[in-house]
Amino acid sequence: MRLAGKHIILGITGSIAAYKAASLTRLLVKEGAEVKVIMTPLAKEFITPLTLATLSKNPILVDFFNPENGDWNSHVDLGLWADLYLIAPASANTIGKMAHGIADNLLLTTYLSAKCPVMVAPAMDLDMYNHQTTQDNIATLKRYGNVVIEAATGELASGLTGKGRMEEPEKILEVVVSFFNSKKRFLGKKVLITSGPTYEHIDPVRFIGNYSSGKMGTALAYKFAEEGAEVIFISGPAAVFPNSNPSIKIINVTSAQQMLDSSLQHFGSVDVAIMAAAVADFTPENSSTLKIKREADDLVLKLKPTADIASTLGSKKHSGQILVGFALETNDEVVNAKKKLEKKNLDFIVLNSLNDSGAGFGYDTNKVTIIDNKGTSNTFELKSKTEVASDIVDVISKRFI
Ligand code: CTP
Repeated sequence: MRLAGKHIILGITGSIAAYKAASLTRLLVKEGAEVKVIMTPLAKEFITPLTLATLSKNPILVDFFNPENGDWNSHVDLGLWADLYLIAPASANTIGKMAHGIADNLLLTTYLSAKCPVMVAPAMDLDMYNHQTTQDNIATLKRYGNVVIEAATGELASGLTGKGRMEEPEKILEVVVSFFNSKKRFLGKKVLITSGPTYEHIDPVRFIGNYSSGKMGTALAYKFAEEGAEVIFISGPAAVFPNSNPSIKIINVTSAQQMLDSSLQHFGSVDVAIMAAAVADFTPENSSTLKIKREADDLVLKLKPTADIASTLGSKKHSGQILVGFALETNDEVVNAKKKLEKKNLDFIVLNSLNDSGAGFGYDTNKVTIIDNKGTSNTFELKSKTEVASDIVDVISKRFI
């Protein structure tokens, strides 16, 4: 019984593959999981609630309340109850709604309130699956930290053959089991991550900033949380943040100085600190409380250096703490990265070069070389930022074994 005591919500949407949800429910229950099934109204057209209620040994939830007695099906309570929310099959429609915050049925409101990890097993026709909209929505869900169990290739209900079939229940079961049984290498550890850009105030309406999206920091936060760590996520005004997650505490800051203050406040208690933020190196010497008028022919802004957060933490690091920095370089990449590693007293530096296409600010991918303070260097292929985060977590975890 590899899932004994685990609480799983199985979300079923309107897709031909809903018939496979019956065997999936049976497999989960057989492994000891307690399963509560939520169906979308359309899913009932594909498989009967009676079948699923019998297999899951629990009433089936479809509506916000029971029309007979008015009992409220609390999506918040369900979201708190579950250790895992598995949506299988997930139709293109539901995936689209999940990616855009639409909450017009119990399955979706529960998704938005769920505090547990979410897995999604898409099922649809190959053209729907390949459509750019669907692919973008799936990418969005991955970015939010949801695990997507890729559709399989084979014969589809339409008679066509291609990618779009929901993965077989036996395979989904194995993903679920390995998720619960995976070693949580950072259990009991605290990890600080800086992320995103900083904004340096010029006047009430202007700032100096940069294009950092926060994607790499967010991917790292999800990975460390998945591995059992408690994450303190200090972010500037980025486009991307982690979704609400009980293991990730988000602290919003604006300027380099605020990011430094917040990092110093927490650094003493963490085991690992990762400097993924693109901190402004300079800030206006004098910032104006009034909007600067377009009066003169030119405007000279005098800048002064900001504090280097990584170096400051490096100088305070105590034995056992691990400090990781990033280096985005355009030339003499390895030499420059090694200099930064030493100067800032880092344990690891993650180097990415602007010369590699698909790497750096804004992309969903990155190509990195991880160099450590013992002279070891590891170069990885171009990968998704989620996979790069896994590589970084793997390399750091070796220091704790
Ligand atoms: N960093 C920091 N505080 C700063 C500047 C940088 O914590 N004020 C961190 C970044 O988060 C990153 C590492 O230091 O992890 C290297 O950042 P980078 O901008 O490449 O380094 P700099 O020291 O600013 O060097 P450069 O002159 O190349 O900009």
